[in-house]
Amino acid sequence: MALLTVLHYPDKKLRNIAAPVSEFNDDLHTIVKDMFETMYAEKGVGLASIQVGIQQRIVVIDISEEKNAPLCLINPEIVYEEGFQYEEEGCLSVPEFWDRVERVEKIKVRAFDQKGKPLELEAEGLLSICIQHEIDHLNGILFVDHMSRLKQERFNKKILKLQKAEVKA
Ligand code: NI
Repeated sequence: MALLTVLHYPDKKLRNIAAPVSEFNDDLHTIVKDMFETMYAEKGVGLASIQVGIQQRIVVIDISEEKNAPLCLINPEIVYEEGFQYEEEGCLSVPEFWDRVERVEKIKVRAFDQKGKPLELEAEGLLSICIQHEIDHLNGILFVDHMSRLKQERFNKKILKLQKAEVKA
């Protein structure tokens, strides 16, 4: 197992679009294991392959307090949406920034597990937000892209400031 490096905004690789997984082999299992290890180490509730520079459609999630409910979604697709919610989000690729984003409330998702078995699940609340957030990553989209232009300007100012502070330090 190995910890992977999480890419940070504005890394251009975060804008790549991931291709579907076609082989459910040992290489895939290693990537999934490493992604879980990285997500837990970084104290995140979700991680998408694009965030660690892997351009395949792989998502790992664990929203449980005890960190004992790992969920791996390969080639996930939202097939049903209902309602809206507006909650605060953060992202391992956008450190030190949180803001509210509009999302669908209830979703139905089709995906494969890491062995290639098809699965379907319904989600609402935090799990639903998390799945939508991670699928966005697979399409090169960040949660800050969903914010109003005003909020995005505020965000960019904050990021610039942080980056200047890093250069000084
Ligand atoms: Ni994220």
